[in-house]
Amino acid sequence: MATSFYITTPIYYVNARPHIGSAYTSIAADVLARFKRQEGCDVKFLTGTDEHGQKVAQSAERLGKTPQTFCDEVSAHFRALTPLLNLTPTDFIRTTEARHKKAAQALWTLLYDRGQIYLGIYAGWYDVREEAFYREEELIKGKSPSGNSVEWIEEFSYFFKLSAWQQPLLEFYKNNPNFIAPDYRRNEILRFVESGLKDLSVSRSRLTWGIPVPNDGKHVMYVWIDALANYLTSLGFPDSLRELKQFWPNCVHLVGKEITRFHTIYWPALLMAADLPLPRQVFAHGWLTVEGQKMSKSLGNVIDPHDLVCAYGADAVRYFLLREISFGEDGDFSERALRRRLNADLANDLGNLVQRVLSFIHKYFAAQVPLRRDFSKEDQDFLKIFPQILNRVQKYIDQVFFHRALETIWEGIVAANRYVDQQKPWLLVKSDKARLEVVLTVLLEGIYRIGVLLRSFIPISAETILNMIAVAPEARDFSYFYTPYTPVGGLPPLDILFTKVQENAC
Ligand code: MSP
Repeated sequence: MATSFYITTPIYYVNARPHIGSAYTSIAADVLARFKRQEGCDVKFLTGTDEHGQKVAQSAERLGKTPQTFCDEVSAHFRALTPLLNLTPTDFIRTTEARHKKAAQALWTLLYDRGQIYLGIYAGWYDVREEAFYREEELIKGKSPSGNSVEWIEEFSYFFKLSAWQQPLLEFYKNNPNFIAPDYRRNEILRFVESGLKDLSVSRSRLTWGIPVPNDGKHVMYVWIDALANYLTSLGFPDSLRELKQFWPNCVHLVGKEITRFHTIYWPALLMAADLPLPRQVFAHGWLTVEGQKMSKSLGNVIDPHDLVCAYGADAVRYFLLREISFGEDGDFSERALRRRLNADLANDLGNLVQRVLSFIHKYFAAQVPLRRDFSKEDQDFLKIFPQILNRVQKYIDQVFFHRALETIWEGIVAANRYVDQQKPWLLVKSDKARLEVVLTVLLEGIYRIGVLLRSFIPISAETILNMIAVAPEARDFSYFYTPYTPVGGLPPLDILFTKVQENAC
């Protein structure tokens, strides 16, 4: 039976349109989903929108819309990222859907029935924009740490007995050292949990735009308990536990570093308290700045993924984000750097390789691949790097190190270009046609594997490459990687892979 794999993005708040930061997490998740499918796994890939809370209600009111109409509109912009960036989610969840309300309430009821939730009084400084409470000592000059104004609030609230889960959490982290990745995030979380946990306020009585607390119409659930439950909703919880059993043990939550705590402390504690199983891993990636600055509406530097895709194509954007930045660490987005990578890596290294090899076959062999396999030692040395590359790429993907995976694939591309330069097919045309046939066969073997390796990262271009060398659809998965390249018929006409752009135009 195929291995099951479940990958999730955070669900995006609908108080802002999608930007390059939201696109970043979704692209990363998509590469994992596609890669695992190529490995033959049964993959679920979940993304969606987080639609409740005070900020959403306020934004809707400002625009004179009902919260639901407002959510419908903004959620549609996030859904539109799927075709734009070539994403392949198997489910798009909205927290305002009936199935989600049912799942979140079922989780609450499980917790309540097990004595894990109680009614108490909450008092603190409340930051409305962030929907977060702060203690007196956390305020900076009377404002929240993010600089927003705060109001003092005392209200009834339900609490989750988070404090009771400190030891079980520490035990869990010890027994599952890969639960929090990368390592340095793990250490931060360990220190935080070791310093003690307070019970967590999990309801709001001053708010109506949320999921009602079961059996107490005066409260709605706090956004985070509502939001985290989305990962269960998509698996058919609570109606069936079948998918939960199947997918949960191999579930990876990709999140931005700022929401690591919610996913690595609150979420496993809630699940343990509800006696539900735990996901395999939470991987926290870093934040993107734009030209060295924090992205913000006030600075006017928010990058819209639509503009980028229109200018450079989805593949260049996908490639750039995952190649330029070490996944896990913060990184900078700059259009100039994107242009440089597009020209150097994609158009020069990859595009030219494919172009120069295939144009030979079109020109001198009437588009019929001259398969000739009396390989020399040099040929074999070149070809044997590809299985090693696949091995390393698989390891890097399991560690969620996209930049390393791409670097490794590029070793193959650079080696292929070097092989062309060494073999000089343009001279062989005149001097040794038999050897030319061998050399072109070797290069097609290489290009075939490069195309297969790149499929999850730059799907449009990789499929174009595989189409141009007439690879059957079923031979594009890793199970065929070790079998010889076998074209189905002659080669179709050449397509342009990447067009160079002016590097200093912006
Ligand atoms: N709704 C919550 C998540 C609930 S998950 C149960 C939330 N939403 S968010 O829209 O504010 O952020 C979603 C994700 O967008 C973050 O985890 C982060 O991955 C990504 N990013 C938003 N801005 C970003 C950057 N500037 N850079 C990189 N990613 C950032 O938090």
